[in-house]
Amino acid sequence: MFKKIYTLSILLLLFSTTTAQDYSKFNLLPQPVELTRGNPNSRFEFTPQTTIIYTFGENNFKPAINAIQEIAENIFGTKIKCATKVNGDNNIILKKNNSLAEEEYILEITPENIIINSKSGVGAFYAIQTLKQIIPVQAYETPIDLNKLSLPIIKVTDKPHFAYRGFMLDCSRHFWSVETIKEVLDIMAMHKMNRFHWHLTEDQGWRIEIKKYPLLTQIGSLREQTTTGKNVGMDGIPYGGYYTQKDVKEIVKYAQERCITIIPEIEIPGHSLGALSAYPWLGCRGENGNYKTWSNWGVAPEIACAGKESTFEFWEDVLSEVASLFPGEYIHIGGDEAPRDEWKICPHCQQRIKDNGLKNEAELQSYVTNRIEKFLHKKGKKIIGWDEILEGGVSQSATIMSWRGAEGGITAAKKGNYAIMTPSGHCYFDYYQTTGRDDEHLSIGGYVPLRKAYELNPYDQLSPEEQKFILGVQCNLWTEYIPTKMQLQYKLLPRLGAIAEIGWCNPSPETKDVEGFIGRSKELSRYYYAFGWNCAKHFYEDDVQIGW
Ligand code: ACM
Ligand code: ZN
Repeated sequence: MFKKIYTLSILLLLFSTTTAQDYSKFNLLPQPVELTRGNPNSRFEFTPQTTIIYTFGENNFKPAINAIQEIAENIFGTKIKCATKVNGDNNIILKKNNSLAEEEYILEITPENIIINSKSGVGAFYAIQTLKQIIPVQAYETPIDLNKLSLPIIKVTDKPHFAYRGFMLDCSRHFWSVETIKEVLDIMAMHKMNRFHWHLTEDQGWRIEIKKYPLLTQIGSLREQTTTGKNVGMDGIPYGGYYTQKDVKEIVKYAQERCITIIPEIEIPGHSLGALSAYPWLGCRGENGNYKTWSNWGVAPEIACAGKESTFEFWEDVLSEVASLFPGEYIHIGGDEAPRDEWKICPHCQQRIKDNGLKNEAELQSYVTNRIEKFLHKKGKKIIGWDEILEGGVSQSATIMSWRGAEGGITAAKKGNYAIMTPSGHCYFDYYQTTGRDDEHLSIGGYVPLRKAYELNPYDQLSPEEQKFILGVQCNLWTEYIPTKMQLQYKLLPRLGAIAEIGWCNPSPETKDVEGFIGRSKELSRYYYAFGWNCAKHFYEDDVQIGW
């Protein structure tokens, strides 16, 4: 009842063009670089008759146009018109402005029109994401279609601090449907995040169709059962799932329409039991290796053989198909937690070490990384690897993803390698969010509350010159203990907002306003609910307003 009365009174406010509403506080997340308010007594009236005007190439502006249409459908129950020429007022005008940076935009809400300046469709898309948050949440919450929405007169000038603002989803420990991934991409887009790191292969399952190696998905995507609790027993239920290449293309397109580039990850040389179970000749133990896709969590001791040429042929074939499926410039080749013990006793691997004058197994892993990198360069791709790839030496062109703390990223930046900061203490969202763990479902461990995520300083210990090598930040969701979409979104929100803001805004501790961020995050959570997304509301000391 309270909700209905509240909604109704808010609606009355929204319908009114003359009521002086208090727009002094905008809860934008990420916070824009600059926001100025115009006349508080004037409004722009957004209506079903508002027309989208694009003055050059519709294709360029497709993500922005689609995003406007989605908002219009959500609040008016109908799409709005598009045109290429201005005819009177009441328009959303998309203008090309070559003086702006690639992702930069200027959003002006005037009494007559909404005007968006950007160099490309990406900037325009981000302007619409800002507009989406300027629209009061009640417009999305109410099931009643509005016929007019009164918006404040403002000007936002905005651009991101970092070029790389990422999120990684583990689709191997638990498999996520195409629809769930699309929802994740929607969540990312709303936060102006632009890189989806898709973790596709693991000990527990290979999840991407590779035409040349059909057993990867016919055998390698399946495990007999899954461990329960903290490896205390087995559930006895076969588990599997994979993305066909058609699915992959659909997801790549969906991401592109939201200005998100996908970075696929193919784990090399560890975390490979899925592949080894399908093609045992890939392993050091060979055909009699008795490899089985893993039912446990942790790091399996098996590894792909770096001594045999056939393994490299396999990797190159797989990466060739992957490179042609994903248009982005990067492929992530894993490299983390590679258990090198089997290499110590494998005659093929030891021969490779000898033939190439390598000192040890760490250098053998570097040999693998360098050779794969050279192959991918020929395909026009760059590599990203987890920070372990630094251990035996790494080429200058490899990008390092720093997860075991910030050290890997710091080392990389100091030696002139690009790095992405995703230290587990701030960025691992599989960790618990509260101290009252009994309130949460079983998690892998750790503790990353919202504030801790927001405390990430990707420039810590780096000189201004070294800071130039930090490409950006990323949060990660490993899914051993996350079997459902509700839990996935609970882990993601609102913490994703913290990393999104660190990526978008100047992340130096002096410019951060933690309390301001928490307040804006709390407001944004109402949008999450309005869009049907789950969110961890007990983050907030006072959650009375949340979730009603
Ligand atoms: C990792 O968490 N093993 C990158
Ligand atoms: Zn071997």
